[in-house]
Amino acid sequence: MGVSRALLRFLVSLSLIIQAAVTTANFFKPFNVSYDHRALIIDGKRRMLISAGFHYPRATPEMWPDLIAKSKKGGADVIQTYVFWNGHEPVRGQYYFEGRYDIIKFVKLVGANGLYLHLRIGPYVCAEWNFGGFPVWLRDVPGIEFRTDNVPFKEEMERFVKKIVKLMREEMLFSWQGGPIIMLQIENEYGNIESEYHQGGKEYVKWAAQMALDLGAGVPWVMCRQSDAPDNIINSCNAYYCDGFKPNSHNKPIFWTEDWDGWYTKWGGRLPHRPAEDLAFAVARFFERGGSFQNYYMYFGGTNFNRTSGGPFLITSYDYDAPIDEYGLLSEPKWGHLKDLHAAIKLCEPALVAADSPQYIKLGPKQEAHVYRVDTNTEGLNLTQYGSQSRCSAFLANIDERKAAVVRFLGQTYHLPPWSVSILPDCRNTVFNTAKVGAQTSIKMVEFELPLFSNISARQQFTVHDEVSYFSKSWMTVKEPIGIWSKKIFSVQAILEHLNVTKDHSDYLWYITRIYVSDDDITFWEEKQVRPTLTIDSMRDVLRVFINGQLTGSVIGHWVKVVQPVRFLQGYNDLVLLSETVGLQNYGAFLEKDGAGFRGQIKLTGFKNGDIDLSTLSWTYQVGLKGEFSSIYTVEENEKAGWSDLMVDAIPATFTWYKTYFNAPDGTDPVALDLGSMGKGQAWVNGHHIGRYWTLVAPKDGCQRTCDYRGPYNSDKCTTNCGKPTQTRYHVPRSWLKASDNLLVIFEETGGNPFDISIELHSVRIICGQVSESHYPPLWKWSLPDFSDGSISINNTTPELHLRCDDEHVIASIEFASYGTPQGSCQKFSKGNCHAPSSLSVVSEACLGRKSCFVGISNSVFSGDPCHGVVKTLAVEARCASSPNTLGASKL
Ligand SMILES: *[C@@H]1O[C@H](CO)[C@@H](O)[C@H](O)[C@H]1NC(C)=O
Ligand SMILES: *[C@@H]1O[C@H](CO)[C@@H](O)[C@H](O)[C@H]1NC(C)=O
Ligand SMILES: *[C@@H]1O[C@H](CO)[C@@H](O)[C@H](O)[C@H]1NC(C)=O
Ligand SMILES: *[C@@H]1O[C@H](CO)[C@@H](O)[C@H](O)[C@H]1NC(C)=O
Ligand SMILES: *[C@@H]1O[C@H](CO)[C@@H](O)[C@H](O)[C@H]1NC(C)=O
Ligand SMILES: *[C@@H]1O[C@H](CO)[C@@H](O)[C@H](O)[C@H]1NC(C)=O
Repeated sequence: MGVSRALLRFLVSLSLIIQAAVTTANFFKPFNVSYDHRALIIDGKRRMLISAGFHYPRATPEMWPDLIAKSKKGGADVIQTYVFWNGHEPVRGQYYFEGRYDIIKFVKLVGANGLYLHLRIGPYVCAEWNFGGFPVWLRDVPGIEFRTDNVPFKEEMERFVKKIVKLMREEMLFSWQGGPIIMLQIENEYGNIESEYHQGGKEYVKWAAQMALDLGAGVPWVMCRQSDAPDNIINSCNAYYCDGFKPNSHNKPIFWTEDWDGWYTKWGGRLPHRPAEDLAFAVARFFERGGSFQNYYMYFGGTNFNRTSGGPFLITSYDYDAPIDEYGLLSEPKWGHLKDLHAAIKLCEPALVAADSPQYIKLGPKQEAHVYRVDTNTEGLNLTQYGSQSRCSAFLANIDERKAAVVRFLGQTYHLPPWSVSILPDCRNTVFNTAKVGAQTSIKMVEFELPLFSNISARQQFTVHDEVSYFSKSWMTVKEPIGIWSKKIFSVQAILEHLNVTKDHSDYLWYITRIYVSDDDITFWEEKQVRPTLTIDSMRDVLRVFINGQLTGSVIGHWVKVVQPVRFLQGYNDLVLLSETVGLQNYGAFLEKDGAGFRGQIKLTGFKNGDIDLSTLSWTYQVGLKGEFSSIYTVEENEKAGWSDLMVDAIPATFTWYKTYFNAPDGTDPVALDLGSMGKGQAWVNGHHIGRYWTLVAPKDGCQRTCDYRGPYNSDKCTTNCGKPTQTRYHVPRSWLKASDNLLVIFEETGGNPFDISIELHSVRIICGQVSESHYPPLWKWSLPDFSDGSISINNTTPELHLRCDDEHVIASIEFASYGTPQGSCQKFSKGNCHAPSSLSVVSEACLGRKSCFVGISNSVFSGDPCHGVVKTLAVEARCASSPNTLGASKL
């Protein structure tokens, strides 16, 4: 009790401090940042930095504090984000810095938490973000060519970059002003496409660098993947592995701006996962081989709300298999394993910063050590500056993808699992090995899943539980007109380019015309047994063909040829082509020319008198959906739409709006909607756009039954979800919900069953740990090496198992506990031949009713040795309680 009250007091005072700091913006004593060949130099000291990639608009401002706190707790020193131009300047000259785009608030929160910030202005950001972050209006600037030596582009880019730097300076957010910003970025992975621009590309790189430096921001700039970055700009690495990366000058440090700890996903794709052991291996190798700044891309991925996901075909979730998942929950064991890794690297930091470069020692054919050693007066360094007289830290690597190795290093023997690195902060004690996961595994679950709404009888069934029902009203529906719905239409005798017409104010563009079909055509088709066919040379992303109001065909693809047989009646036929974008191109050269919709010839073939060139006909253009432009999804406007009750046996199939109201589940666990019963469309909650949804199914094969961490990772290596829809769950941030009567509006294109939509609570329900006697003692027990001989110390060398439920939850039951030789893995543990009878009682005593617990792995803890001469392991599976006051809890 005393502890929790003290903790509460601490938290209250902490939040007051943070609030005060956010309003006064004085986070640090002003400090300068520079760099040398080894590292960033912060306030005169070289630093080894761990950075957490996290994009502010991919979460709500209400989520930011928790996400930043979890990044810090995980061992991050820095938060890294892009700046999203199209979010900040939706209309040329009209800036937006509110809500999810309140970058000032975000940067201040980072500072208030004592973290640094790496601001990647770009302003091209790629990021699987709509149009790579470029505002779509940029295409319309006369004479513009993006990302090359083009005056109109350079003017626009400079204006925006200046605007951001000025804003940060005015808000006192640079390090030398006492703010958190220690580093910036100009452009983004331009080296990937530079050659396509020939000399213009080379000139542009020089210009961009000089323009950035001339802004006098007072902190270093990076250009990532830019091997010709000019002298004063650090070129950095983005990849799955960056050990061995060499910057283009001996005066520049080795930085890793994007460590891809997972990967993004497309509609209809499998879900990629990067194993924690391989990720830790990559990071350890990076610091082992001289790296000094490493950023996880992403540490938190989040969600592409609104229509911000990029293209082609990127999904709404940007989970990325990151250490913090889309909902803000920790992904374990990834988060915990990296936390341990960061603590191990921190123990080495004094030696890593003191030595100018590592000493390489070959230990075996595929085994090697890198030793960072500095003795007094060597290398002419003033070591007091680094807090020590003498330092030695070492990394021992086994890069063999298959076999473990035993190596000798400085007179001692070390066992190295395959594809692993051991970290020795004092060149003697191993405190961490990348392949030995001591962190818990967490199994996340959907706490409950009830039909969000149903008909009256189902409603009565649930009202038995009274206030725990989510029903407030039944579903209602309204049809979306096919084709013209407004007076804002125009006609031209041409097929216009999609983005030139929509300006991306909507995914949808209707092309409407009439086709005359004569008796002769009909006879011709019958005699020859042919069908007229719509052919388009090339199309992206989705085309829907309507004839006389009926949907007669759909084509999905990225610049694919369309060959769509159609059926006409004699006389005039209404032909409507609906062109849809599903996220604009975010990567590649010449983005301004990429566009969307149709390219090349577009015609009807198979007519008696030959092909009809459709581009010669008169077309009427209608942008967007009626419901979209009349804000049918907002609380204020939705009533005006003429809704009618939706009957279970009469669900309209296509191009329909649905709405209902629901009550929010109690508690603070993250909420999602399961839209797996729907087809394709968009959804809004209380007027907030939760994103596009699409129930496209991943290929049946190509997933792996087990995921072997050993060997180089690629995004196809460890995938799941084969044969299932890529995404069915859509995050609804808590802050968008009120207790009751939340308006849910859905636009559905192809047909689905809204009655099967359900609401879910996400939380960690099962936690497992498995730690053996031979594991390393917990990292936080080691002291920093601060003795004159540079050795590190520890008082209690017992390894421990640490279990932790999410913030609001306690450990409710121990499902399995065995100290001895347990077998299997999480949710599949079983006792082995050796088992201490006290296992369950010891673990229960330590853990039940607590949010987290530690159990020592030693015979004394389990009242005696259950089997002499055998290495014992403790395996535990525990269940976290559902949050109090939820339906799930009341049902139990
Ligand atoms: C940072 O560097 C500038 C220029 O060298 C210097 O004037 C200033 O005093 C330095 N600030 C701090 C906090 O060291
Ligand atoms: C070394 O650095 C420390 C701390 O910055 C300073 O107090 C000391 O005078 C320096 N020693 C020499 C010999 O420069
Ligand atoms: C109403 O819902 C119940 C339970 O889901 C179902 O059994 C019943 O058929 C539904 N009735 C109608 C009219 O749809
Ligand atoms: C789009 O419009 C611009 C003028 O605003 C024109 O130069 C360009 O050719 C158009 N693109 C296409 C593909 O028609
Ligand atoms: C996101 O979508 C909502 C609802 O459609 C809209 O009101 C809002 O302006 C959009 N926000 C941004 C930044 O585009
Ligand atoms: C070890 O114990 C001593 C004496 O109790 C204490 O001063 C020291 O801080 C401890 N070290 C660690 C690493 O816990």
